[in-house]
Amino acid sequence: ASSINLAVIPGDGIGQEVVAQGLKVLNAVLPQDVKLETKEYDLGAQRWHRTGETLPDAELEALKGHDAILLGAIGDPSVPSGVLERGLLLKLRFAFDHFINLRPSKLFPNTATPLAGSPEIDFVVVREGTEGPYTGNGGSLRTGTEHEVATEVSLNTAFGVERVVRDAFERAAARPRKKLTLVHKNNVLVYAGHLWKNTFDKVAAEYPQVTTDYLHVDAATIFFVTQPERFDVIVTDNLFGDILTDLAAAISGGIGLAASGNINPTGAFPSMFEPVHGTAPDIAGQGKADPTATVLSVALLLRHLGYEAQAVRIEDAVSADLAERDGTARTTDEIGDALAVRVAG
Ligand code: IPM
Ligand code: MN
Repeated sequence: ASSINLAVIPGDGIGQEVVAQGLKVLNAVLPQDVKLETKEYDLGAQRWHRTGETLPDAELEALKGHDAILLGAIGDPSVPSGVLERGLLLKLRFAFDHFINLRPSKLFPNTATPLAGSPEIDFVVVREGTEGPYTGNGGSLRTGTEHEVATEVSLNTAFGVERVVRDAFERAAARPRKKLTLVHKNNVLVYAGHLWKNTFDKVAAEYPQVTTDYLHVDAATIFFVTQPERFDVIVTDNLFGDILTDLAAAISGGIGLAASGNINPTGAFPSMFEPVHGTAPDIAGQGKADPTATVLSVALLLRHLGYEAQAVRIEDAVSADLAERDGTARTTDEIGDALAVRVAG
């Protein structure tokens, strides 16, 4: 027997609704002898309006004690842009050193893609999670004047690049196709580009079984649309990965299906799992959100904690559920129920 001590941050908007379904499916899939304990954290826009706090130290400390974190979505138009992003979401990713931002894309059968034909899409983006232009390393001079100057520096360390590149090689080596593509822009971003390419080539020598490729990020966006089957594992920096994974979601069933894990593979801190989508204030509270991205994020969470069989059960349930979709509208709750029944049965 074992146990999972899970922190839950439903957050704002549809975050609340989809997390409830994620927990429903988690409860249904876990064996009887695994004890699931959950603790909900009230963080997000409402909390900020009430108290002005985004992520107080006491809660950051408390979160450290959990095995993993399930997060819905954070943000609301009533909160100035950047406040919750930096003060909560990115703060968690940085504080818990989530250097792997894992974002798989798979086009399930009977699932819509704007691409012609029925392309094979089954790749995973290993997005760096703690560096790049996300570190808040920059500044502004003469702010608000006609002579304003703004810098936003991309931070790339040998340590940070090597650990994500190594992780990506490991993941590629474990997959049937064993192919890893580095995506960067080393024809323009020459300093960071050199560090990434050099590190990639160095580590590649240790993985002769992995086929390697390099693409500039602009070219990669073309191939996402024209030839998505050429990708297996992709490793890239924080910002390129952010942009590419929205495109990846768009070509493989939409943002309602895109799952992610903010992972610290060392286990030093809890990893955090969340749908790639946001809070969708336009449909919040109406039971219209598709909880599938959150449910698939729960599968990533289980895999991370060593419950591989349960992760696969969830993924199979999602695949079966999608295969039977015929356009009839279902509520968030109904989709959650259907998935819970499938994983239990
Ligand atoms: C994501 C989001 C975040 C990011 C924002 C909300 C800070 O777009 O998880 O992809 O840029 O990483
Ligand atoms: Mn994003």
